[in-house]
Amino acid sequence: MASSTSSVITLKINGEKRTLPVDHRTTLLDALRERLDLTGTKKGCDQGQCGACTVLLDGRRTVACLQLAVAAEGREITTIEGVADGERLHPVQQAFLDLDGFQCGYCTPGQICSAIGMIEEHAAGWPSAVTEDVRPQAGPPPLTADEIRERMSGNLCRCGAYVAIVEAVARAAEAHPHEGREDAVTDGAREAAV
Ligand code: FES
Ligand code: FES
Repeated sequence: MASSTSSVITLKINGEKRTLPVDHRTTLLDALRERLDLTGTKKGCDQGQCGACTVLLDGRRTVACLQLAVAAEGREITTIEGVADGERLHPVQQAFLDLDGFQCGYCTPGQICSAIGMIEEHAAGWPSAVTEDVRPQAGPPPLTADEIRERMSGNLCRCGAYVAIVEAVARAAEAHPHEGREDAVTDGAREAAV
């Protein structure tokens, strides 16, 4: 029953509408995990520090522990459960599997959602803190290992699987239509030189 501190909301998650009553203080992360049984999205720190809860909101990556569920109404929410195309894994998922981009796997859903958003940001020409030429006309910088590490720095891995994570992101980025060009992903990133 809705009250002044709760509302009935409809969230669009992985293409499906889900209606539920929520206390206004409920985070998107708790709504996904505790109310909708979408437990692929993980809770690590619950304070925006680790990236384990990363999901896509209208295609942009965000940490679900710092979003209120009520504020996500009307937006396209994509969780790890929704990134594959039926039985076909998303290229980022496939690259993580092929290159062992994980150990315990707890951070992996957040790493994968973050990488999907990151590859789109890079293709759109967004600079990072390590991009040398940030002029808009310079276009996307080469996706070096340093660029990948910086752009993925909001996603911590307690197992320290970073070398393979960088390799996997580089391989998945190569499959992206925009990133496929010759100089977009450097050999250094492919080899994940550290
Ligand atoms: S659980 Fe959200 S950032 Fe750590
Ligand atoms: S694989 Fe264990 S925390 Fe990243």
